[in-house]
Amino acid sequence: MAERILAIDDNRVNLKVVSASLEKGGYKVGTAQSGPEALKIVNEFHPDLILLDINMPDMDGYEVCRRMRKMPDVAGTPIIMLTANDTLEEKIKGFEAGADDYLTKPFQPAELIARIGVLLRRAARVHQEQPTTNSKFSAVFSLRGGVGVSVMAANLAAGYHQIWGQRVVLVDMVLNMGQSALMLNLPLRNTWADLASIPPDEIDEELVQNVLLKHESGLFVLAAPRTSVEGETVHIDSIRRVLDVLRAKFSYVILDLPHDFSDVTLTGLDYADDVILMMAPELASVRATVGALEVFDTLGYSRNEIHVAMNWIFERKGLARGDIENVMKKKISFMIPYASESIVTSINLGVPPVLEAETSPVGALFEDIAYNISKEEDRENRPDEPTVAWRRVLARQKARQKRK
Ligand SMILES: Nc1ncnc2c1ncn2[C@@H]1O[C@H](COP(=O)(O)OP(=O)(O)OP(=O)(O)O)[C@@H](O)[C@H]1O
Ligand SMILES: [Mg+2]
Repeated sequence: MAERILAIDDNRVNLKVVSASLEKGGYKVGTAQSGPEALKIVNEFHPDLILLDINMPDMDGYEVCRRMRKMPDVAGTPIIMLTANDTLEEKIKGFEAGADDYLTKPFQPAELIARIGVLLRRAARVHQEQPTTNSKFSAVFSLRGGVGVSVMAANLAAGYHQIWGQRVVLVDMVLNMGQSALMLNLPLRNTWADLASIPPDEIDEELVQNVLLKHESGLFVLAAPRTSVEGETVHIDSIRRVLDVLRAKFSYVILDLPHDFSDVTLTGLDYADDVILMMAPELASVRATVGALEVFDTLGYSRNEIHVAMNWIFERKGLARGDIENVMKKKISFMIPYASESIVTSINLGVPPVLEAETSPVGALFEDIAYNISKEEDRENRPDEPTVAWRRVLARQKARQKRK
């Protein structure tokens, strides 16, 4: 069946030209000449993708985009914005409004068709991967080591678990030297390596459950092998299979990713609903982060699902937040202060600060971050039986609002 594209533009000539090339490309095309008209017909037309002009008299494209993102049936539909102005501000505004891609007029029909193809394939993939249990995958990543990826991953995982009381697993994807289990003071009874010799299609829930380590907090961990040689033995197909199995069994899956764009990393990113990109306030880290953001763009990961976390891993002065944001062309979502006491001590003791959120400010911060990027459906309603951690997060929220 032909995929359906809704083109929205106040200019009839533009609409005709675009429709013609899209129909030639084999798509079924619907058109609207204004924002309000588009909003009226979009639910009947059921587009697989939307082309949206920005400059329109009644309602501009940003507003149309924002409204569509609130309509349940359209919220996930890819939107490409079209504009005459190639300014950075416009692009950022578009992404902030919820657009997936951007094209400057005049454009070649071939480029439009190519971009549409990419977004539709991606949407189809996301659709296909729709989990049975609606689990959420959060990947923690940095192209440079030593900026707190593993610290964040462990705290996020423990945080999700204590806030929601749901099943959570921390997956160490750094197969050659991962240390997630160590951070939680868990003996390496089982690791990824135990699954290496099993044919991927024979890996099932029971086998996976058997190699998971259980932390006393109730959090599960899939640990990295003891040696890099063992790490080499884990095949990418096994990794996929294991992640599929985990998706069916856990509400939250946190991936501690390697500091590269290897096959393992890309596989993890394929599964990730959001990425927490860790960085430190120094030049090398900024460079690495800009590089990573570029790769994410090329791979078609929308910038909306990437949260940058600035981690003060040192005490000395660092680069200013505003300067870093300008260079990255992206806002920093979370700031983690230098906290050698609580973080280093906690690593030595194998207790992530988040587990001591009651008394540790850094722990409370990690708890707030975990809450912030929890599933929307979890955040939207008051849990039937709220956990202590949930009450704590909400109390802090209230206190902050009061202060404003
Ligand atoms: N906010 C912080 N304040 C003080 N020290 C920190 C902070 N965040 C992390 N650290 C320290 O930095 C070190 C590196 O952290 P972590 O192991 O999480 O990094 P990583 O990005 O996973 O790097 P790698 O995997 O290469 O070791 C840890 O030993 C930790 O003690
Ligand atoms: Mg690490």
